[in-house]
Amino acid sequence: MAGIIGSDVETLRWKNGRLEMIDQRVLPARFEYISYDSAAGVADGIRSMVVRGAPAIGCAAAYGVALEALQLRDLGPEAFRDGIEKAFEVLAGSRPTAVNLFWALEHMRTRMDTMSVSAPSQIAAKLLEEAHAVLSKDIRINRTLGTFGADLLSDGARVLTHCNAGALATAGHGTALGVIRSAVASGKKISVVADETRPFLQGARLTAWEMVQAKIPVTLISDNMAGHLMSRGEIDAVVVGTDRVAANGDVANKIGTYMVAVLARRHEIPFYVACPLSTIDLGIADGSAIPIEERAADEVTGYRDCQWAAPGVSVRNPAFDVTPAELVTALITEKGVVKQPTTDRVVALFPS
Ligand code: MRU
Repeated sequence: MAGIIGSDVETLRWKNGRLEMIDQRVLPARFEYISYDSAAGVADGIRSMVVRGAPAIGCAAAYGVALEALQLRDLGPEAFRDGIEKAFEVLAGSRPTAVNLFWALEHMRTRMDTMSVSAPSQIAAKLLEEAHAVLSKDIRINRTLGTFGADLLSDGARVLTHCNAGALATAGHGTALGVIRSAVASGKKISVVADETRPFLQGARLTAWEMVQAKIPVTLISDNMAGHLMSRGEIDAVVVGTDRVAANGDVANKIGTYMVAVLARRHEIPFYVACPLSTIDLGIADGSAIPIEERAADEVTGYRDCQWAAPGVSVRNPAFDVTPAELVTALITEKGVVKQPTTDRVVALFPS
């Protein structure tokens, strides 16, 4: 199957002057890439969930800016600037919760601002270099935090995860699944319990697929089974990813994560959050200010073309929830493990 390198997956790739992204809406039934050549196209790919997962969204946004710059490189400086500003705007409006999107845009803007007197074609070339750098740095970071996280898992651990924080959610290796991949690579026998993750089924469709590809034992459960398994002593640790961590360590992640964290505390099971620094938002004091995306009702009333709920029923569909820091055993970052996160401990991760 194209796109798979060893046990890993090329979620985004640069090919023939265009960005290609695996269409995650159709996995695992089909493995296909969609090709993009503009910021508006990439924004649409993010909005419609062709690409999803906080770090992968960030990488896609960086390429969105670079693609637009390449499109506009023959314009005069002013028209080029106007076009790039529109690209930033359309990408920033694609999804609200994952802070990596805004982190990547800020990163690209800073790069551009260092070259304000250069010709548009030179700026475009540098922005493309920067997008490539964002992508390769993401993989390096995931491998580093994976090694730190692997030390927290004992040999034989049965690890529950929610949503997909794997290679598909990043440039490669994954964050939560990166911890699992690294633990397996270090020789530990790890098995994964994947929550199906209603309503978009990232666990059933994507995590299960990734773990099967990597030959890591995986058992799929529906979300309402997690408490039962924990009460029977069948889960040793929880590892999840995150879309945004507030300065005090509150964690926004896929809807249902909070429920898992409460259950983990009830059963004295460690609850770990794999978290690259690009996912920490020091501008937000606590989780109450994290914007939570509300998605379309038809994701809850059914799945794709099959709609099973009573027509006319009213629906809520928040795509993320916030787990308070007090329920987090540790954040696993590329700078090391932060036990029982507090504002002081989170802020200390960043150079002052
Ligand atoms: O709506 P999604 O699929 O983009 O949500 C993804 C998640 O919630 C992931 O757990 C999170 O982005 C971390 S990915 C390393």
